[in-house]
Amino acid sequence: MKSTQLGKTGEELSAMGLGGMPLSIQGRPQAEQARAVLIRAIELGVTFIDTADSYCLNETDKHHNERLIASVLADHPRGGEVKVATKGGLLRPDGAWEVHGDPKHLKQTIAESHQALGGRDPIFLWQWHAPDSRFPMEESLQAVRDAVDAGLIRYVGLSNVSVEEIERARKMVDVVSVQNKYNLWHRRPETDGVLEYCEQHQLTFIPWSPLGGSRQVKHLHEFKEMAALAEDLQVSPMRLVLAYLLAKSPCILPIPGATRLKSLEDSMAAITLTLTSQQMARINAIK
Ligand SMILES: NC(=O)c1ccc[n+]([C@@H]2O[C@H](COP(=O)([O-])OP(=O)(O)OC[C@H]3O[C@@H](n4cnc5c(N)ncnc54)[C@H](OP(=O)(O)O)[C@@H]3O)[C@@H](O)[C@H]2O)c1
Repeated sequence: MKSTQLGKTGEELSAMGLGGMPLSIQGRPQAEQARAVLIRAIELGVTFIDTADSYCLNETDKHHNERLIASVLADHPRGGEVKVATKGGLLRPDGAWEVHGDPKHLKQTIAESHQALGGRDPIFLWQWHAPDSRFPMEESLQAVRDAVDAGLIRYVGLSNVSVEEIERARKMVDVVSVQNKYNLWHRRPETDGVLEYCEQHQLTFIPWSPLGGSRQVKHLHEFKEMAALAEDLQVSPMRLVLAYLLAKSPCILPIPGATRLKSLEDSMAAITLTLTSQQMARINAIK
């Protein structure tokens, strides 16, 4: 597996990570299947897994995905090589997704995530899931800074943020990564300045739902140019999209999700798919 660096930290991660969300939210697979996916990811050389306190069914199931990942890593001989990035700042009342930037809540959920992930080492990367307009960013981020100072968090990332919000946050904490939605249906990071900002400031950009998510992924072939190029290359459109993202910018670290081994294996093979500048241009031109 090729590797990439987390921001400017010097920490080496696999060039492609695994998104843990589909293993714990509604429609999730049986525990044995979920564990098999995580184990296969480790075998394939994945050393970066993305999760969140909110990857669960509802409030009573909080931290499900973190506990699942931690237990697989604890049982696996190479589990210690894997870095886990979690998030906090969303609630799951009755399965809905609700932003909650109250610093008291953030303090509590960071402590719970720390426990769920083993309770021994600091959380490798804690990402603020999304700003909450009801609280000034500085108030919310004070809880994060305190957790860094207390040794609960090693590195801090942001998610669902604009360039202005990244700059504001960086006055409060050292930020190493940004996780925003980026896929063929949603190319805003190319124009809103966030991708460019990450490149300029050496922040890792983590595109979420890189394949469009569990519903849209089934429609990827409807991008005719993508489907045609995938056929020419004898690869799946999913593998092609991931190879495209990897080639698009050295700061991009895709985290495709998977509940099936077949999807996982196909996606990870994107690491060895090299695209020519002409092929990149064809995908860039897709509307
Ligand atoms: N920060 C945020 O606000 C935020 C929001 C959403 C997601 N995320 C993160 O981003 C990660 C990725 O997003 P996502 O899981 O929503 O969506 P995704 O990675 O775009 O798509 C995942 C879906 O694609 C399918 N798939 C993956 N690789 C495939 C392949 N090679 N061939 C065919 N199907 C394939 C999977 O199918 P099977 O399930 O059938 O294997 C799964 O249903 C999440 O897991 C989570 O960690 C973050």
